[in-house]
Amino acid sequence: MPLTIRPVQNEDHTAWLPLWHAYIAFYKGSVSDAQTALTWQRILDPAHPLQAWVAEQDGVLLGFTHAFIHPSTWSDAGYCYLEDLFVSQTARGQGVARQLIETCAAWAKTQRADQLYWLTQEDNHTARQLYDRVAQRSGFIHYKHAVGSCV
Ligand SMILES: CC(C)(COP(=O)(O)OP(=O)(O)OC[C@H]1O[C@@H](n2cnc3c(N)ncnc32)[C@H](O)[C@@H]1OP(=O)(O)O)[C@@H](O)C(=O)NCCC(=O)NCCS
Repeated sequence: MPLTIRPVQNEDHTAWLPLWHAYIAFYKGSVSDAQTALTWQRILDPAHPLQAWVAEQDGVLLGFTHAFIHPSTWSDAGYCYLEDLFVSQTARGQGVARQLIETCAAWAKTQRADQLYWLTQEDNHTARQLYDRVAQRSGFIHYKHAVGSCV
């Protein structure tokens, strides 16, 4: 069966949730159940900027990406930030993430966004092998400064 990349639907929640947890575990991160529920609610809310696509094959969800367009002082239409990208272990190396990124880029183009960009960890060599093929490094370095409970 061909791989399908499509927007997330309400019925995907049961399959999306373990992928989301595996993604957070990959980062050794922690996201509360309340935040997870809010994120899911925002994904489904057509009035919220957050967008999500899933990769599906034979009725099985293999991965997802989440992105949103934000305002920019340099651009009328804004920039699209791809915040999350995950492909399940058994589906890796087959171009699933590449197709998720390309779908997001195509959508950003329809929204007339001026740029699609994302961050990754320096030592995420697997992801960077893909990113070096499909995108250009920006040359910017990412800093963060504590402003609340999240740092
Ligand atoms: C990073 C990640 C999303 C890549 O997903 P994927 O579906 O395996 O990636 P793809 O198959 O689309 O990779 C596309 C290209 O990268 C190459 N690639 C991917 N994984 C590779 C690996 N482990 N070794 C060598 N090359 C690799 C593929 O050969 C492919 O190149 P090609 O299309 O020119 O043949 C996946 O490994 C993942 O979910 N990792 C854990 C979470 C994560 O790191 N997310 C990204 C956070 S920034």
